[in-house]
Amino acid sequence: MSEARLDVAGVVVAFGGLKAVDDVSFVVAPGETFGIIGPNGAGKTTLLNAVSGLVPLQQGTVRLDGAELHGLRPDQRTARGVSRTFQAAEVFNEFRVRDYVSLGRLSGQRQSVVGAALRLPGIIRAERAERADVERLLATYGLSHIADEVLRELPYGVRKLVDILRALFGRPLVLLLDEPTSGTATSDRVALREVLQQAGQDGLTTVVVDHDVQFVSDLCDRLLVVDFGQELGTGAPAEVLARADVRAAYVGAE
Ligand SMILES: Nc1ncnc2c1ncn2[C@@H]1O[C@H](COP(=O)(O)OP(=O)(O)OP(=O)(O)O)[C@@H](O)[C@H]1O
Ligand SMILES: [Mg+2]
Repeated sequence: MSEARLDVAGVVVAFGGLKAVDDVSFVVAPGETFGIIGPNGAGKTTLLNAVSGLVPLQQGTVRLDGAELHGLRPDQRTARGVSRTFQAAEVFNEFRVRDYVSLGRLSGQRQSVVGAALRLPGIIRAERAERADVERLLATYGLSHIADEVLRELPYGVRKLVDILRALFGRPLVLLLDEPTSGTATSDRVALREVLQQAGQDGLTTVVVDHDVQFVSDLCDRLLVVDFGQELGTGAPAEVLARADVRAAYVGAE
């Protein structure tokens, strides 16, 4: 896997009079797992939306390996390697796991509709290779045993994990995760952490927003704490979480 650097500088996102993100900057090094935490409404999702192109920036820049992403639509950013999962995962319930994961490579990598309809040999070969890739990905993350399961029958946390594999199947350079542990059981969080740790070891640059502070501290190299749209601090998890103002932001939120 090639490694990518994400550079967010001076980003401001406003909704009417409200600055949901107010001059936030951070750099995620190639292969780093970077966490963003903060109370409800702090602007964490909006920050991910700014990186994936779902909201316009009032100010600031977002760069992937030095290339400005401004002006690119979300799908164009995905094509550049910026992939995303969402806070409330709407995972297609009737799909089998292997078929759902294969959706991760739909954009821009499919052959023409006509070619597919005619079942041209090249297309059939490509489909076969892609199916083998799905099996390989599931095996890599120790999930081959659920390949045939229908999503509806799996626990919510496992469905969210499958959604992450769907994103990984698209071979992203940067993966943005919004609340991957929300609604999941403790046992599923362990599996989730292991998948993300392995992806990180393989060089994936990851940004993870989550409310489970233990989960992000265990997983992430560094944390950014945001409160009211602004940066409270960035650094190694233990160091940042020991800060009095960070603790106060959380106590205020409880
Ligand atoms: N599309 C929008 N239009 C107007 N206001 C918005 C919009 N999206 C977010 N906001 C506001 O921006 C602020 C930040 O919201 P955001 O969803 O980014 O917070 P968050 O940190 O992700 O919160 P949570 O932990 O609850 O998911 C909130 O005050 C929210 O109400
Ligand atoms: Mg959010």
